[in-house]
Amino acid sequence: MKKARVIGTGSYLPEKVLTNFELEKMVETTNDWILARTGIEERRIAAEQETTSDMATKAAQRALEMAGVAADEIDLIVMGTITGDYPWPATSCIVQTNLGAKNAYAYDLSAACSGFVYALSCASDFLQVGRGKKALVIGAEKLSNIVDWTDRNTCVLFGDGAGAVVLEAQETESGILSCHMHSDGSYLDLLYQPGFGVKNPVSVQGIEERTSFLKMQGNEVFKVAVRSLTEVSKEALKANSFTSEQLDLFIPHQANRRILEATAKRLKLKDEQCYINVHKYGNTSGATIPVAMDEAYRQGRLKEGSLVLLSAFGGGFTWGSALLRW
Ligand code: ACO
Repeated sequence: MKKARVIGTGSYLPEKVLTNFELEKMVETTNDWILARTGIEERRIAAEQETTSDMATKAAQRALEMAGVAADEIDLIVMGTITGDYPWPATSCIVQTNLGAKNAYAYDLSAACSGFVYALSCASDFLQVGRGKKALVIGAEKLSNIVDWTDRNTCVLFGDGAGAVVLEAQETESGILSCHMHSDGSYLDLLYQPGFGVKNPVSVQGIEERTSFLKMQGNEVFKVAVRSLTEVSKEALKANSFTSEQLDLFIPHQANRRILEATAKRLKLKDEQCYINVHKYGNTSGATIPVAMDEAYRQGRLKEGSLVLLSAFGGGFTWGSALLRW
């Protein structure tokens, strides 16, 4: 059976850097606290007029360029995002038009920080069953628009950015070996955005009282995140009869250095097996994994034959993993 193989990666991070020292002037926090609790040094913030589709388009163009694939060769575009340009239509349709991918159909997928891995799983299935030959998978977020910039518990954690990969159906031993996805809606209150949906529509009060923006009970999320990331990573390895020792690179969702280190320890991974860039960009939700894949590939850390594990956890709760032979 054919497998979906990554043939190009791309990423885009906005120019504006927001450092911990700048955050010290915005809320009651310190560089030392943020560094010790999260490992984050700085994050990127999109320009006011810069949209999620703008960032996604740039990341996708870079991935297509690396793959040597023309936009009209793409059969499917799936994008993980919780910060689309509009409530509807799908932001991926805007990206499709920007790219000139006129032969693709496009949809967005809402799985918060697991959005990219969920999207990868959908695109992998699509290619495996022969529905098309090439797919574009994107994770893109403008979280700066939904973060409460007066809440020190959350605003220090997040950033904006986009990443993309081009997948091709190939008769190969390499490619995406398996995907394992999970969700549990009973944890809603620990991590969600109360406002701007149908339940609590946009209101002046919601914005002024800051009740519309992203809410999180950080230490509760932390515990479930470590447990779920560990379990779903083990699930992927077991399903393919690999041990963690055999992994060339573990690319987890970049939420927080402590979550990543705790997960890596439980999986008995060495530092050199883990890709970490959370210090530079913070948590960009659905964008963290494709941005990290693009950086790792361009740095030569992903070579033909590398065994790569992607694991994500996010609001919903949602979590999932994908094991790839590069
Ligand atoms: N600066 C200074 N002090 C702060 C800050 C800040 N930015 N934020 C919180 N504090 C204070 C709190 O008010 C609290 O003070 P108190 O003891 O006087 O009440 C104290 O620090 C400890 O707060 P905790 O929330 O218990 O701190 P914790 O060690 O859990 O760290 C953090 C908080 C970094 C949010 C951590 O819980 C975490 O990383 N959670 C994971 C959440 C996450 O990454 N979510 C992202 C989305 S989901 C995902 O991507 C996996």
